Amino acid sequence: MTPQPPGARDPAPEADAADVLDFPLPPPGTMGPPEECARLRASCPVARVRLPMDATAWYVTRYADVREVIADPRLIRPAINDWPARPGPAADDGPRLVTMAELEPPRHLALRRAAASAFSSRAVRDHVPRIRELAEHLLDAFQEAGRPGDLVAGYTEPFPLLVLCELVGIPFEDRDWFLPVLAAALDTMVTSEEGREVTDLLRAYTAGLIARKRSRPGDDVLTLLVSRCEDGTLTDDDVMAFGLSMLTVGFGISSFFLANSVHTLLARPERWARLRDHRDLMPGAVEELLRYLPVMNGTLLLLATEDIDVRGRTVRRGDAVIPVLASANRDGSVFADAARLDLCRADNPHLAFGRGTHNCIGAHLARAELTVGLEALLDRFARLRPADGQEPRWDDRSVTKSPLTLPVSW
Ligand code: HEM
Repeated sequence: MTPQPPGARDPAPEADAADVLDFPLPPPGTMGPPEECARLRASCPVARVRLPMDATAWYVTRYADVREVIADPRLIRPAINDWPARPGPAADDGPRLVTMAELEPPRHLALRRAAASAFSSRAVRDHVPRIRELAEHLLDAFQEAGRPGDLVAGYTEPFPLLVLCELVGIPFEDRDWFLPVLAAALDTMVTSEEGREVTDLLRAYTAGLIARKRSRPGDDVLTLLVSRCEDGTLTDDDVMAFGLSMLTVGFGISSFFLANSVHTLLARPERWARLRDHRDLMPGAVEELLRYLPVMNGTLLLLATEDIDVRGRTVRRGDAVIPVLASANRDGSVFADAARLDLCRADNPHLAFGRGTHNCIGAHLARAELTVGLEALLDRFARLRPADGQEPRWDDRSVTKSPLTLPVSW
């Protein structure tokens, strides 16, 4: 029998889940987590919340429950733009923005297997020198522009995008076109017509990429996957789902983690100095940053395909469930002194990369980006610090929080 994590057998608390709470948001000007998470973990770990787009969902905050829910095959991921129904006339039945996360077996398994070798720990290790080169290239330009500088625009934002584009085979120079289209596609408040329009644009762009890999193969993951269509392992639709996944989730979260990591380390100069002088701490520090930084404040949404029980609450078929990874990673029944960043934390079974068949395929790559991204900064700017009198700006409408600007000096 699989050992249960601490807290798994806690009795259902008395708090009333009939109340519908407003969707918890991080306090303005911070990365989070939402203050309600700690209270809900203690008193109502499976709560009803009202989402900004006028729908309700079950908000799951304890580690043990989040861990179960994210790997439960009875909960599926709806396609971006598919849930909830958006304002405006109903969209027609054309193709949707389907990514890897929404694929079901056996197609999902075939795609995961075909892409696995490109994202394995060995493949990523081999790629590290090139990842470092890309970091140095960006930092050369950043340093040359003079101090103070905005580290988000100059480094934490372009770095993971540059790495992913090169590895996967997406032209980096197309970013001025696809970044705004992606932002519109991921905006939950657009109408169904607007959603369909940007979906069509992204599908056409990805189809063009696939066609180019076929006529002019490169040394990249898209070319690898296109070649697996020839032997019947994959279809063009599978490669399309992969390409759309890379655009929608392949770089943004890494950028957010890198920006929040630097922001958090610089908030206490002794943290920066400690990592600079004790590089052996880096692997554990990266895991701790992944646990501690509440980027995933409630963005993952699942739909129940049948009635299921979550800690004594009945989640009905069709109900939405939000497992709050950031809250699970702050659960004091699993992590001692959970609200404290402990760069030397030894036992760290965080859930930042999810769990189960849909866990993050880019986890090794993300770890490498965070490690190399920080090391390159520590090597170059031993005395990096927040720029005097300039606060970072935050987008307080978004639940996935990271600074929009990070003014630094050195
Ligand atoms: C710190 C950075 C990252 C974090 C914290 C993160 C987190 C996650 C999480 C929690 C999931 C699971 C979502 C679910 O259960 O539906 C996921 C899935 C996924 N991630 Fe990441 N991710 C990161 C970086 C990346 C990168 C760099 C890539 C690029 C390859 C990537 C590609 C994907 C894909 C394709 C999926 C869907 C996998 C599937 O459904 O089979 N992620 N990620």
